[in-house]
Amino acid sequence: MMILPQYQKIEVTADKPYPVFLGAPLEELGEYLHSQFDDVEHILIITNPVIAELYEERLMKGLLDYRVNLLTVPAGEKEKSLERLSQLTTAALRFHTDRHTLVIALGGGVIGDLAGFFASVFMRGIRLIQVPTTLLAQVDSSIGGKVAVNHPAGKNILGAFYPPRAVWTDFTTLDSLPWEEVENGLAESIKHALITELGLFEFFETQEVGLRERNPILWCEMVTRSSTVKMTIVSNDEREQGLRALLNLGHSFGHALETEMSYRGVTHGQGVSIGLVAVAYLAQAKGHMTVAEVDRIKRLLSIYGLPTKITDITINGQDPQSLLQRMQADKKNQGGRKILILPQGIGRAVISKECTDAEILEAWQRVL
Ligand SMILES: NC(=O)c1ccc[n+]([C@@H]2O[C@H](COP(=O)([O-])OP(=O)(O)OC[C@H]3O[C@@H](n4cnc5c(N)ncnc54)[C@H](O)[C@@H]3O)[C@@H](O)[C@H]2O)c1
Ligand SMILES: [Zn+2]
Repeated sequence: MMILPQYQKIEVTADKPYPVFLGAPLEELGEYLHSQFDDVEHILIITNPVIAELYEERLMKGLLDYRVNLLTVPAGEKEKSLERLSQLTTAALRFHTDRHTLVIALGGGVIGDLAGFFASVFMRGIRLIQVPTTLLAQVDSSIGGKVAVNHPAGKNILGAFYPPRAVWTDFTTLDSLPWEEVENGLAESIKHALITELGLFEFFETQEVGLRERNPILWCEMVTRSSTVKMTIVSNDEREQGLRALLNLGHSFGHALETEMSYRGVTHGQGVSIGLVAVAYLAQAKGHMTVAEVDRIKRLLSIYGLPTKITDITINGQDPQSLLQRMQADKKNQGGRKILILPQGIGRAVISKECTDAEILEAWQRVL
Protein backbone atom coordinates (compact mmCIF):
# COMPACT_ATOMS: atom_id res chain seq x y z
CA MET A 1 0.00 0.00 0.00
CA MET A 2 1.41 3.34 -1.06
CA ILE A 3 1.86 6.02 1.58
CA LEU A 4 0.51 9.44 0.72
CA PRO A 5 1.87 11.57 3.54
CA GLN A 6 0.98 14.99 2.18
CA TYR A 7 -2.69 14.26 1.63
CA GLN A 8 -5.44 13.93 4.05
CA LYS A 9 -7.37 10.72 3.57
CA ILE A 10 -10.81 10.29 5.08
CA GLU A 11 -12.73 7.06 4.72
CA VAL A 12 -16.46 7.19 3.98
CA THR A 13 -17.76 4.16 5.83
CA ALA A 14 -20.66 3.36 3.52
CA ASP A 15 -21.88 -0.06 2.44
CA LYS A 16 -18.83 -0.13 0.17
CA PRO A 17 -16.33 2.14 1.94
CA TYR A 18 -14.19 4.48 -0.13
CA PRO A 19 -11.49 7.04 0.59
CA VAL A 20 -11.72 10.77 -0.02
CA PHE A 21 -8.29 12.28 -0.63
CA LEU A 22 -8.12 15.97 0.21
CA GLY A 23 -5.37 18.14 -1.21
CA ALA A 24 -4.30 15.40 -3.62
CA PRO A 25 -2.49 16.65 -6.77
CA LEU A 26 -4.07 15.69 -10.10
CA GLU A 27 -0.66 14.51 -11.35
CA GLU A 28 -0.52 11.84 -8.66
CA LEU A 29 -3.85 10.14 -9.24
CA GLY A 30 -2.22 7.71 -11.71
CA GLU A 31 0.24 6.51 -9.07
CA TYR A 32 -2.63 5.84 -6.71
CA LEU A 33 -4.55 3.92 -9.38
CA HIS A 34 -1.49 1.76 -10.06
CA SER A 35 -1.28 0.90 -6.38
CA GLN A 36 -4.96 -0.04 -6.15
CA PHE A 37 -6.16 -1.60 -9.38
CA ASP A 38 -3.76 -3.97 -11.10
CA ASP A 39 -6.27 -5.10 -13.73
CA VAL A 40 -7.00 -1.63 -15.14
CA GLU A 41 -5.49 -0.93 -18.56
CA HIS A 42 -8.05 1.43 -20.02
CA ILE A 43 -9.23 4.71 -18.53
CA LEU A 44 -12.09 6.86 -19.76
CA ILE A 45 -11.96 10.46 -18.62
CA ILE A 46 -15.32 12.22 -18.86
CA THR A 47 -15.20 16.00 -18.63
CA ASN A 48 -16.18 19.18 -20.49
CA PRO A 49 -14.04 21.27 -22.87
CA VAL A 50 -13.43 24.09 -20.36
CA ILE A 51 -12.14 21.74 -17.70
CA ALA A 52 -10.17 19.65 -20.20
CA GLU A 53 -8.39 22.77 -21.38
CA LEU A 54 -7.46 23.67 -17.82
CA TYR A 55 -6.64 20.30 -16.24
CA GLU A 56 -6.33 17.45 -18.75
CA GLU A 57 -2.59 17.86 -19.09
CA ARG A 58 -1.93 17.74 -15.35
CA LEU A 59 -4.08 14.66 -14.90
CA MET A 60 -2.55 12.89 -17.92
CA LYS A 61 0.96 13.27 -16.48
CA GLY A 62 0.27 10.39 -14.12
CA LEU A 63 -1.63 8.23 -16.60
CA LEU A 64 1.07 7.60 -19.20
CA ASP A 65 1.08 3.83 -18.62
CA TYR A 66 -2.63 3.51 -19.41
CA ARG A 67 -4.63 3.55 -22.60
CA VAL A 68 -6.61 6.73 -21.98
CA ASN A 69 -9.56 8.18 -23.88
CA LEU A 70 -11.08 11.54 -23.16
CA LEU A 71 -14.77 12.17 -23.73
CA THR A 72 -16.02 15.72 -23.47
CA VAL A 73 -19.60 16.87 -23.19
CA PRO A 74 -20.62 20.54 -23.45
CA ALA A 75 -20.89 22.46 -20.17
CA GLY A 76 -24.31 22.91 -18.58
CA GLU A 77 -27.07 21.27 -16.60
CA LYS A 78 -28.98 20.22 -19.73
CA GLU A 79 -26.20 17.73 -20.50
CA LYS A 80 -27.43 15.58 -17.62
CA SER A 81 -29.78 13.83 -20.02
CA LEU A 82 -30.59 10.37 -21.33
CA GLU A 83 -29.69 11.54 -24.82
CA ARG A 84 -26.21 12.53 -23.68
CA LEU A 85 -25.88 9.26 -21.77
CA SER A 86 -26.69 7.36 -24.95
CA GLN A 87 -24.13 9.36 -26.95
CA LEU A 88 -21.50 8.75 -24.27
CA THR A 89 -22.23 5.04 -24.51
CA THR A 90 -21.78 5.03 -28.29
CA ALA A 91 -18.47 6.88 -27.98
CA ALA A 92 -17.29 4.67 -25.13
CA LEU A 93 -17.97 1.53 -27.16
CA ARG A 94 -16.03 2.97 -30.07
CA PHE A 95 -13.09 3.25 -27.65
CA HIS A 96 -13.47 -0.43 -26.73
CA THR A 97 -14.63 0.35 -23.22
CA ASP A 98 -15.32 -2.85 -21.31
CA ARG A 99 -16.00 -4.06 -17.78
CA HIS A 100 -12.38 -3.48 -16.77
CA THR A 101 -12.36 0.16 -17.84
CA LEU A 102 -12.15 2.77 -15.09
CA VAL A 103 -14.07 6.04 -15.44
CA ILE A 104 -12.67 9.31 -14.13
CA ALA A 105 -15.30 12.02 -13.71
CA LEU A 106 -13.28 15.23 -13.98
CA GLY A 107 -15.46 18.25 -13.29
CA GLY A 108 -18.24 19.79 -11.28
CA GLY A 109 -21.50 18.27 -10.15
CA VAL A 110 -22.89 17.99 -13.68
CA ILE A 111 -19.98 15.85 -14.87
CA GLY A 112 -19.91 13.92 -11.58
CA ASP A 113 -23.60 13.06 -11.83
CA LEU A 114 -23.57 12.26 -15.55
CA ALA A 115 -20.29 10.32 -15.68
CA GLY A 116 -21.24 8.65 -12.40
CA PHE A 117 -24.59 7.53 -13.77
CA PHE A 118 -22.88 6.33 -16.94
CA ALA A 119 -20.41 4.28 -14.84
CA SER A 120 -23.28 2.85 -12.79
CA VAL A 121 -25.16 1.45 -15.79
CA PHE A 122 -22.48 0.76 -18.39
CA MET A 123 -22.28 -3.06 -18.55
CA ARG A 124 -24.06 -3.08 -15.16
CA GLY A 125 -21.41 -0.96 -13.50
CA ILE A 126 -17.75 -0.11 -14.02
CA ARG A 127 -15.32 1.50 -11.61
CA LEU A 128 -15.58 5.21 -10.98
CA ILE A 129 -13.22 7.83 -9.53
CA GLN A 130 -14.64 11.27 -8.77
CA VAL A 131 -12.25 14.17 -9.38
CA PRO A 132 -14.30 17.22 -8.36
CA THR A 133 -13.23 20.62 -9.70
CA THR A 134 -15.91 22.99 -8.38
CA LEU A 135 -16.39 24.01 -4.77
CA LEU A 136 -19.88 22.51 -4.81
CA ALA A 137 -18.54 19.21 -6.12
CA GLN A 138 -15.68 19.13 -3.61
CA VAL A 139 -17.80 19.80 -0.54
CA ASP A 140 -20.99 18.14 -1.67
CA SER A 141 -21.79 16.28 -4.90
CA SER A 142 -18.69 14.07 -5.25
CA ILE A 143 -19.34 12.58 -1.80
CA GLY A 144 -22.21 10.27 -0.99
CA GLY A 145 -22.62 8.18 -4.12
CA LYS A 146 -25.70 9.82 -5.62
CA VAL A 147 -25.53 9.92 -9.42
CA ALA A 148 -28.28 10.91 -11.84
CA VAL A 149 -29.54 12.40 -15.05
CA ASN A 150 -32.55 14.65 -15.47
CA HIS A 151 -35.84 13.94 -17.24
CA PRO A 152 -38.30 16.45 -18.70
CA ALA A 153 -40.49 15.64 -15.67
CA GLY A 154 -37.84 16.79 -13.21
CA LYS A 155 -34.27 16.97 -11.99
CA ASN A 156 -32.38 13.79 -11.05
CA ILE A 157 -35.39 11.59 -11.80
CA LEU A 158 -33.23 8.79 -13.16
CA GLY A 159 -30.45 7.99 -10.76
CA ALA A 160 -28.69 5.53 -8.55
CA PHE A 161 -26.65 5.16 -5.41
CA TYR A 162 -23.28 4.34 -6.93
CA PRO A 163 -20.34 5.09 -4.64
CA PRO A 164 -17.04 5.88 -6.35
CA ARG A 165 -13.89 3.84 -5.65
CA ALA A 166 -12.28 7.07 -4.48
CA VAL A 167 -12.73 10.83 -4.49
CA TRP A 168 -9.59 12.71 -5.52
CA THR A 169 -9.81 16.36 -4.49
CA ASP A 170 -7.17 18.79 -5.71
CA PHE A 171 -7.86 22.17 -4.07
CA THR A 172 -5.79 24.02 -6.69
CA THR A 173 -8.44 23.37 -9.35
CA LEU A 174 -10.60 25.90 -7.51
CA ASP A 175 -8.21 28.72 -8.45
CA SER A 176 -9.82 29.02 -11.88
CA LEU A 177 -13.43 28.84 -10.68
CA PRO A 178 -15.49 32.01 -11.38
CA TRP A 179 -16.87 33.65 -8.24
CA GLU A 180 -20.51 32.98 -9.18
CA GLU A 181 -19.69 29.27 -9.17
CA VAL A 182 -17.88 29.68 -5.87
CA GLU A 183 -21.11 31.08 -4.43
CA ASN A 184 -22.97 27.86 -5.24
CA GLY A 185 -20.46 25.91 -3.19
CA LEU A 186 -20.44 28.48 -0.39
CA ALA A 187 -24.21 28.21 0.01
CA GLU A 188 -23.87 24.45 0.55
CA SER A 189 -20.89 24.92 2.87
CA ILE A 190 -22.75 27.43 5.01
CA LYS A 191 -25.66 24.98 5.03
CA HIS A 192 -23.30 22.28 6.33
CA ALA A 193 -22.19 24.64 9.09
CA LEU A 194 -25.80 25.38 10.04
CA ILE A 195 -26.67 21.69 10.23
CA THR A 196 -23.86 20.45 12.42
CA GLU A 197 -21.02 22.81 13.11
CA LEU A 198 -21.19 26.15 14.89
CA GLY A 199 -17.38 26.25 14.69
CA LEU A 200 -17.45 26.19 10.89
CA PHE A 201 -20.08 28.93 10.91
CA GLU A 202 -17.77 31.05 13.10
CA PHE A 203 -14.87 30.26 10.78
CA PHE A 204 -16.89 31.73 7.90
CA GLU A 205 -17.66 34.78 10.03
CA THR A 206 -14.13 35.44 11.22
CA GLN A 207 -12.21 34.57 8.04
CA GLU A 208 -14.37 36.60 5.69
CA VAL A 209 -11.55 38.67 4.16
CA GLY A 210 -9.16 35.78 3.61
CA LEU A 211 -11.84 33.52 2.19
CA ARG A 212 -13.06 36.19 -0.20
CA GLU A 213 -9.45 36.72 -1.33
CA ARG A 214 -9.14 32.95 -1.83
CA ASN A 215 -6.31 32.50 0.64
CA PRO A 216 -5.23 28.91 -0.17
CA ILE A 217 -4.71 27.84 3.45
CA LEU A 218 -8.15 29.08 4.46
CA TRP A 219 -9.77 27.50 1.41
CA CYS A 220 -8.10 24.22 2.19
CA GLU A 221 -9.53 24.40 5.72
CA MET A 222 -12.97 25.39 4.46
CA VAL A 223 -13.20 22.54 1.94
CA THR A 224 -11.83 20.04 4.44
CA ARG A 225 -14.23 20.99 7.22
CA SER A 226 -17.25 21.32 4.97
CA SER A 227 -16.68 18.07 3.06
CA THR A 228 -16.12 16.31 6.37
CA VAL A 229 -19.63 17.29 7.44
CA LYS A 230 -21.01 15.59 4.33
CA MET A 231 -18.77 12.54 4.79
CA THR A 232 -19.87 12.11 8.39
CA ILE A 233 -23.54 12.37 7.52
CA VAL A 234 -23.46 9.95 4.56
CA SER A 235 -21.29 7.52 6.52
CA ASN A 236 -24.09 7.32 9.07
CA ASP A 237 -26.97 7.21 6.62
CA GLU A 238 -25.90 6.32 3.10
CA ARG A 239 -29.38 5.67 1.72
CA GLU A 240 -31.14 8.68 3.23
CA GLN A 241 -33.28 6.78 5.72
CA GLY A 242 -33.00 9.60 8.25
CA LEU A 243 -29.98 11.77 9.07
CA ARG A 244 -28.97 12.39 5.44
CA ALA A 245 -32.24 14.27 4.92
CA LEU A 246 -30.74 17.07 7.03
CA LEU A 247 -28.60 17.97 3.99
CA ASN A 248 -31.82 19.24 2.41
CA LEU A 249 -31.86 22.21 4.79
CA GLY A 250 -33.14 25.21 2.81
CA HIS A 251 -33.71 23.09 -0.28
CA SER A 252 -37.51 22.70 -0.15
CA PHE A 253 -37.81 26.48 -0.33
CA GLY A 254 -34.86 26.80 -2.70
CA HIS A 255 -36.18 24.24 -5.19
CA ALA A 256 -39.64 25.81 -5.11
CA LEU A 257 -38.14 29.17 -6.00
CA GLU A 258 -35.90 27.70 -8.71
CA THR A 259 -38.84 25.91 -10.38
CA GLU A 260 -41.16 28.92 -9.99
CA MET A 261 -38.53 31.01 -11.80
CA SER A 262 -38.04 28.22 -14.39
CA TYR A 263 -34.34 28.03 -13.40
CA ARG A 264 -33.77 31.43 -15.02
CA GLY A 265 -32.22 34.34 -13.18
CA VAL A 266 -31.58 32.23 -10.10
CA THR A 267 -28.63 29.94 -9.40
CA HIS A 268 -28.91 26.91 -7.15
CA GLY A 269 -26.75 28.65 -4.55
CA GLN A 270 -29.06 31.67 -4.57
CA GLY A 271 -32.11 29.44 -4.18
CA VAL A 272 -30.49 27.62 -1.27
CA SER A 273 -29.40 30.88 0.34
CA ILE A 274 -32.92 32.33 0.30
CA GLY A 275 -34.17 28.91 1.43
CA LEU A 276 -31.84 28.98 4.43
CA VAL A 277 -33.20 32.36 5.45
CA ALA A 278 -36.78 31.13 5.01
CA VAL A 279 -36.23 28.11 7.28
CA ALA A 280 -34.50 30.35 9.79
CA TYR A 281 -37.65 32.53 9.92
CA LEU A 282 -39.75 29.41 10.27
CA ALA A 283 -37.57 28.14 13.10
CA GLN A 284 -37.79 31.54 14.76
CA ALA A 285 -41.59 31.50 14.52
CA LYS A 286 -41.57 28.11 16.19
CA GLY A 287 -39.27 29.32 18.98
CA HIS A 288 -36.21 27.31 17.88
CA MET A 289 -34.13 30.29 16.91
CA THR A 290 -33.65 33.82 18.20
CA VAL A 291 -33.99 36.99 16.15
CA ALA A 292 -30.26 37.57 16.72
CA GLU A 293 -29.44 34.15 15.26
CA VAL A 294 -31.58 34.79 12.19
CA ASP A 295 -29.78 38.12 11.69
CA ARG A 296 -26.43 36.38 12.07
CA ILE A 297 -27.31 33.92 9.29
CA LYS A 298 -28.51 36.70 7.00
CA ARG A 299 -25.38 38.71 7.68
CA LEU A 300 -23.09 35.79 6.88
CA LEU A 301 -24.84 34.98 3.60
CA SER A 302 -24.69 38.66 2.55
CA ILE A 303 -20.98 38.89 3.29
CA TYR A 304 -20.35 36.24 0.66
CA GLY A 305 -22.62 37.88 -1.90
CA LEU A 306 -25.51 35.48 -1.37
CA PRO A 307 -29.10 36.80 -1.41
CA THR A 308 -31.30 36.80 1.68
CA LYS A 309 -34.53 37.85 -0.02
CA ILE A 310 -36.09 37.36 -3.42
CA THR A 311 -35.78 41.01 -4.42
CA ASP A 312 -31.98 40.60 -4.17
CA ILE A 313 -32.12 38.50 -7.35
CA THR A 314 -35.18 39.65 -9.29
CA ILE A 315 -37.39 42.69 -9.63
CA ASN A 316 -40.31 40.49 -10.68
CA GLY A 317 -42.55 39.95 -7.69
CA GLN A 318 -43.26 36.36 -6.70
CA ASP A 319 -46.55 35.03 -5.43
CA PRO A 320 -46.10 33.32 -2.04
CA GLN A 321 -49.22 31.20 -2.63
CA SER A 322 -47.82 29.64 -5.80
CA LEU A 323 -44.40 29.19 -4.15
CA LEU A 324 -46.17 27.27 -1.39
CA GLN A 325 -47.97 25.28 -4.07
CA ARG A 326 -44.62 24.34 -5.61
CA MET A 327 -43.60 22.75 -2.32
CA GLN A 328 -46.49 20.31 -2.65
CA ALA A 329 -44.44 18.35 -5.20
CA ASP A 330 -41.43 17.90 -2.89
CA LYS A 331 -40.12 14.32 -2.96
CA LYS A 332 -39.76 14.33 0.82
CA ASN A 333 -43.42 14.97 1.61
CA GLN A 334 -45.28 12.14 3.30
CA GLY A 335 -49.03 11.62 3.19
CA GLY A 336 -49.77 15.24 2.28
CA ARG A 337 -47.65 16.59 5.16
CA LYS A 338 -44.66 18.70 4.32
CA ILE A 339 -41.41 17.37 5.73
CA LEU A 340 -39.05 20.24 6.36
CA ILE A 341 -35.59 20.49 7.84
CA LEU A 342 -35.57 23.10 10.57
CA PRO A 343 -32.49 24.66 12.16
CA GLN A 344 -32.33 24.65 15.95
CA GLY A 345 -30.11 27.60 16.63
CA ILE A 346 -26.84 27.51 14.68
CA GLY A 347 -25.08 24.15 14.29
CA ARG A 348 -28.02 21.83 14.73
CA ALA A 349 -31.06 20.88 12.63
CA VAL A 350 -33.97 18.46 12.86
CA ILE A 351 -36.48 16.83 10.54
CA SER A 352 -39.91 18.31 11.20
CA LYS A 353 -43.46 17.47 10.11
CA GLU A 354 -44.90 20.15 12.34
CA CYS A 355 -45.04 23.18 10.04
CA THR A 356 -48.44 24.31 8.87
CA ASP A 357 -49.08 25.86 5.46
CA ALA A 358 -49.85 29.16 7.18
CA GLU A 359 -46.44 29.16 8.87
CA ILE A 360 -44.68 28.27 5.61
CA LEU A 361 -46.58 31.02 3.82
CA GLU A 362 -45.44 33.52 6.43
CA ALA A 363 -41.83 32.45 5.92
CA TRP A 364 -42.24 33.02 2.16
CA GLN A 365 -43.70 36.44 2.83
CA ARG A 366 -40.72 37.36 4.97
CA VAL A 367 -38.21 36.54 2.18
CA LEU A 368 -40.18 38.37 -0.52
N1 LIG B 1 -24.89 13.90 -6.53
C1 LIG B 1 -25.11 14.73 -5.55
O1 LIG B 1 -25.13 14.35 -4.37
C2 LIG B 1 -25.31 16.19 -5.86
C3 LIG B 1 -25.35 17.12 -4.81
C4 LIG B 1 -25.47 18.46 -5.15
C5 LIG B 1 -25.57 18.85 -6.48
N2 LIG B 1 -25.56 17.91 -7.46
C6 LIG B 1 -25.64 18.30 -8.87
O2 LIG B 1 -24.51 19.08 -9.18
C7 LIG B 1 -24.80 19.90 -10.29
C8 LIG B 1 -24.21 21.27 -10.06
O3 LIG B 1 -22.81 21.14 -9.93
P1 LIG B 1 -21.83 22.40 -10.02
O4 LIG B 1 -22.36 23.49 -9.20
O5 LIG B 1 -20.47 21.88 -9.74
O6 LIG B 1 -21.99 22.91 -11.52
P2 LIG B 1 -21.31 22.44 -12.90
O7 LIG B 1 -20.84 21.06 -12.86
O8 LIG B 1 -22.25 22.84 -13.97
O9 LIG B 1 -20.04 23.39 -12.99
C9 LIG B 1 -20.24 24.77 -13.02
C10 LIG B 1 -19.41 25.45 -14.13
O10 LIG B 1 -18.07 25.53 -13.70
C11 LIG B 1 -17.19 25.10 -14.75
N3 LIG B 1 -16.02 24.55 -14.07
C12 LIG B 1 -15.94 23.39 -13.40
N4 LIG B 1 -14.75 23.28 -12.79
C13 LIG B 1 -14.07 24.42 -13.09
C14 LIG B 1 -12.80 24.91 -12.72
N5 LIG B 1 -12.01 24.25 -11.88
N6 LIG B 1 -12.41 26.11 -13.20
C15 LIG B 1 -13.25 26.84 -14.02
N7 LIG B 1 -14.47 26.43 -14.38
C16 LIG B 1 -14.88 25.23 -13.91
C17 LIG B 1 -18.01 24.12 -15.53
O11 LIG B 1 -17.55 24.05 -16.85
C18 LIG B 1 -19.40 24.72 -15.45
O12 LIG B 1 -19.59 25.65 -16.46
C19 LIG B 1 -26.31 19.87 -10.46
O13 LIG B 1 -26.63 19.09 -11.58
C20 LIG B 1 -26.80 19.18 -9.20
O14 LIG B 1 -27.98 18.43 -9.41
C21 LIG B 1 -25.42 16.59 -7.17
ZN1 LIG C 1 -27.95 21.85 -3.12
